[in-house]
Amino acid sequence: MIPDTMKAMLLTGHGGIDKLEYRDDVAVPRPGLGEVLVQVTATAKNNTDRKAREGLYPTRKGEVASFRMGGNPTLTFPRIQGADIVGRIVAVGEGVDERRIGERGLLDFNIYASARRDINLTPDYYGHGADGGFAEYVALPSDQFHHVDNSDLADAELAAMGMCSYQTALHMLTSACVTAGERVLVSGASGGVGTALIQLCRIMGAIPYALSKPEKADVLLDLGAEAVLDRSDMDSFVERIRAETGDRPIDAVMDLVGGDMTDIFIDSMIFDMNARETYPRLSIAGASGGNISEILWTRIYLYQVQIFGVSHGTREEAEQLIEWIREGQLRPVLHGAFRLSDLHRAEDYFVNRGSNYLGKIVIVPDSQWDEHGQPFALENV
Ligand SMILES: NC(=O)c1ccc[n+]([C@@H]2O[C@H](COP(=O)([O-])OP(=O)(O)OC[C@H]3O[C@@H](n4cnc5c(N)ncnc54)[C@H](OP(=O)(O)O)[C@@H]3O)[C@@H](O)[C@H]2O)c1
Repeated sequence: MIPDTMKAMLLTGHGGIDKLEYRDDVAVPRPGLGEVLVQVTATAKNNTDRKAREGLYPTRKGEVASFRMGGNPTLTFPRIQGADIVGRIVAVGEGVDERRIGERGLLDFNIYASARRDINLTPDYYGHGADGGFAEYVALPSDQFHHVDNSDLADAELAAMGMCSYQTALHMLTSACVTAGERVLVSGASGGVGTALIQLCRIMGAIPYALSKPEKADVLLDLGAEAVLDRSDMDSFVERIRAETGDRPIDAVMDLVGGDMTDIFIDSMIFDMNARETYPRLSIAGASGGNISEILWTRIYLYQVQIFGVSHGTREEAEQLIEWIREGQLRPVLHGAFRLSDLHRAEDYFVNRGSNYLGKIVIVPDSQWDEHGQPFALENV
């Protein structure tokens, strides 16, 4: 039976972790037209949870803000965050086949502004413009809650393959028109998007070179990286890349770090233009290393470097990824799980962890913990 109220973590305003309130009296949503009601078993954390909470999508004036692609802010308070949701359908709204009740699924996290399958011009998402998965139940569009019944994938592992990382990664590659045989540099390689990029490069037949820390190299090589370069020494970066590629330039850079590194990444593509067969391309979807970079525009236009800003992706890309997950072509990289009631500690761990771990953190409702969280518990961190 579906209760009237549920436990949920409410974001009550922009600010610190104290803006997250754990409540046990939140109304369980009712599925509307074309929606399903999902009992949540696991929701992956993403950087955007923190950025939206702290208002870290700055305008030029540096004011606290969240993004407002459609013109108006869609983040209103209180809001339940959490984008990459896994769970089971427990009820359906009007127009949805009742036989879907019981299905396990993974959400395509986008709130699409139109039915177009090939473009997504105003990226917004569940957990930002509408309530997300840091709760026991959530109402979601039925066509974006994709059935995935692979028995070898635990719910927490499936959440770790959420679209916020995987769809962004795929859209970075498709924007830059990466093709089989191309050498692709991946920065921030051990994170959610980076680990997705390495795997997707291999599916597409491209060759991923990972920039990360030496202690993470074994896992990244096992995921498919051709080589792992230490990011602590950027002065010798281009030399080291040349040694790894046999003196061939990087064809395309997938940048998640930004800051001072981006300009050096460009060097790795343009040191010998005669050795290239395509224009140098750089997709950027994150700036973990700094929001401002010094770029010489003369270098960009003389060397014809193509730069692609990437946010989320398209319906087509989400559906392609779900197919690859169902076929077992993608692997989860799950760091561990926290209870929903412990989300404050998870946030603190996520923000202050340094960069000592690989992959994703997943949040599991306390009522689902024994089955879906405990096997991956990060109790002692
Ligand atoms: N545009 C979008 O739609 C979209 C979607 C998802 C994420 N993002 C953004 O993309 C970025 C990566 O996301 P994620 O989920 O993969 O993050 P993540 O799991 O937190 O991983 C980020 C990785 O970046 C590297 N890193 C962190 N700080 C760094 C620094 N100061 N200098 C160099 N490298 C640093 C670390 O990897 P190594 O230790 O391996 O170097 C870290 O593991 C974030 O900025 C996020 O906000 C954007």
